Amino acid sequence: MHKFILLLLSVFPLVVFGGPLMNPQTEGKIARLIQQMTLEEKIGQMTQRNGADGHEDQIRDGLIGSILNEIDTDKLNNIQRIAMKESRMGIPLIIGRDVIHGFRTVFPIPLGLAASWNPELIKQGTRIAAIEAASVGVRWTFAPMMDICRDPRWGRIAETLGEDQYLASVLAVAMVEGFQSDDLSNKDALAACAKHFAGYGAAEGGRDYNTTSIPEQLMRDVYLKPFKACTDAGVATFMVAFNEINGVPASGNSFLLKQILRDEWNFDGFVVSDWASITQMINHGYCRDDKHAAERSLNAGLEMEMATSTFIDHIKNLLDEQKITMQTIDDAVRNILRIKFRLGLFENPYTDPADFPELVNAEHLAAAKESAIQSVVMLKNDNQVLPLSKEIKSIAVIGPMADDQFEQLGTWTYDKNIEDTQTPLMALKKFDKSSAKINYVQTLEYSRAKDKKDFQKAVEAAEKSDAVLMFMGEESILSGEAHCRANIDLPGIQEDLIHEISKTGKPIVLVIMAGRPITIGNIIDKVDAILFSLHPGTMGGPALVDLIFGEVSPSGKLPVTYPKVVGQIPLYYNYKNTGRPFDPKTYVPMDSIPVRAWQTSLGNETHYIDAGHKPLYPFGYGLSYTTFEYSDLKLSSNKIKLVEKLQVSAKITNTGEVAATEIVQLYIRDLVGDITRPVRELKGFERLQLNPGESKTVTFELCKDDLDFHNQKMQLVTEPGKFHVWIGPSSTEGLQGEFEIVQ
Ligand code: BGC
Repeated sequence: MHKFILLLLSVFPLVVFGGPLMNPQTEGKIARLIQQMTLEEKIGQMTQRNGADGHEDQIRDGLIGSILNEIDTDKLNNIQRIAMKESRMGIPLIIGRDVIHGFRTVFPIPLGLAASWNPELIKQGTRIAAIEAASVGVRWTFAPMMDICRDPRWGRIAETLGEDQYLASVLAVAMVEGFQSDDLSNKDALAACAKHFAGYGAAEGGRDYNTTSIPEQLMRDVYLKPFKACTDAGVATFMVAFNEINGVPASGNSFLLKQILRDEWNFDGFVVSDWASITQMINHGYCRDDKHAAERSLNAGLEMEMATSTFIDHIKNLLDEQKITMQTIDDAVRNILRIKFRLGLFENPYTDPADFPELVNAEHLAAAKESAIQSVVMLKNDNQVLPLSKEIKSIAVIGPMADDQFEQLGTWTYDKNIEDTQTPLMALKKFDKSSAKINYVQTLEYSRAKDKKDFQKAVEAAEKSDAVLMFMGEESILSGEAHCRANIDLPGIQEDLIHEISKTGKPIVLVIMAGRPITIGNIIDKVDAILFSLHPGTMGGPALVDLIFGEVSPSGKLPVTYPKVVGQIPLYYNYKNTGRPFDPKTYVPMDSIPVRAWQTSLGNETHYIDAGHKPLYPFGYGLSYTTFEYSDLKLSSNKIKLVEKLQVSAKITNTGEVAATEIVQLYIRDLVGDITRPVRELKGFERLQLNPGESKTVTFELCKDDLDFHNQKMQLVTEPGKFHVWIGPSSTEGLQGEFEIVQ
């Protein structure tokens, strides 16, 4: 190694090898600060407290390094002043908040954003969220959440970017870039937080906080992928998960926090616990008491404690007893201070809202509307009921979600202003391109309501209207943290209402506003069209009205598999083929099995006798007001060497009558592997805007890294052999080709 680098390494041990190249000057400043800090002040940097009130004295004494859940700018400026001017070391606080899908302007829930498959739009939305949050003094968000989730019972699926590691990686990186901007020291940049590390979305049975068992190969090839992508994109912080993984809680997991995050990925930011997740290791049965929990989390690589105080209470004794080392403490403090320097907090810890654009301004609302438009997935559109003609004379508007300014915003919206919300009913009344009479009957006060008293009024409204819009779904609180459901049908008596309205014979458009896929097997045949909007945020109303009247065509595609019934879960598109894959030719559905049938091995394949094999709608699926034709699949070669790149292209034509956007998807299947490979894996996608009759050719490029996976020896390999490749509109359709990788 070059002498100069060796010299540098001896002075600043981690300077050269780090995530983003570390700045020697900053590292020098950090080293000098650490030298001067008392043990109490170091522990202070590793401690996070809730709210500003009552913490002034501790901040003055250097015993707190971070605050979460305070958004009063005066209070924040005051505690920053105390930290900077009245504490011995003058170290600023880092102020955190859950800015998950917007701040004051609420964007669609992350699962909805993921349905847009639009990283640029998502980046723009997170940028706006960052600007709004920074304008009050927040400089750290606990987002993006990138837990892969294959189970819609889990309430936190609402916060995820879906079930696929490739899509989630691309979108999570867009979020990191949006939050952090091109330079963390910009006054409107937020430090992002990759969470929850790791495997949280695999909670058994979809019950929050539950045990996970994830083989290392699956962990690396699926669950860790978005985290690695965000590390490479320079994410500033990580948050651990609540769950245990194969018996070891994430808060005490040195395999994740040391081996993977530091040794393999060279992450140089810091790791925060989740809310009380350190002491919860006692409940897990992994630690005897608080002190033991502090010891195990510190030695695993956890660096900042959220909500509890085991670090304050026990670090000194643990050091005296040599259960932990001062090096561990110094490393943690160094990583925390590094992010504070990168945020420019030492130079500029204060916030003047006058430096920022207004909250919820027209530009922010326009972006929220566009995001909501692109987040809607049209699941069904029989007889082209949608778009509604602008000439239509009357529309019945029915349902608990039609005009609820609170419930369409979704989970994690602490900083919303409910009055800002524009509901579908409000937007319909304002929509000046149609003079249709609106016959509104809310009918059910909220999604779980069970009072049928207004059913008759709703039926009458439907009878006197030309079409019916039913806004149904789940209230915001029915998804999100700890809000898991064993039954994911429409809550309450919403299905009964749909049955009643369907008897009128009027065309029915069902809009589902929810935090997750809702099983609709009981009512799917009763409605003509379905728009799955998830919780669409502040501008959900105008977005839906534009879609309903065809101002724009739906373009969203499902970021998760949509089950028929809850018993199919977990259900995901990139499953393994098994030794006895589903075979439609030999499948005998339950009602066709003869009475007293003799046991037979015919038809013994992977399926349910009552629910078959397929989901209701596959991952990647979504309809449009036009039709697209896929043709001319071309591969640059049918045999490529490991070092070469393969181009795969196809022509997409808009064969319908209106301009629309298609999300073109690239999938592969590795036919034989040292570890069995999924039946399909997403490897690319592109949003394509096409006018009627227009064609465009989409070209994807695949290289060795796109085809790699961890083998039995846990080596990352791309194996020679045959692959199938598809370009198509969803995970179950498309033009198929084949290629071979040769040595
Ligand atoms: C959640 C985190 C969140 C934290 C702080 C926890 O309960 O799991 O995702 O960032 O609270 O609000």
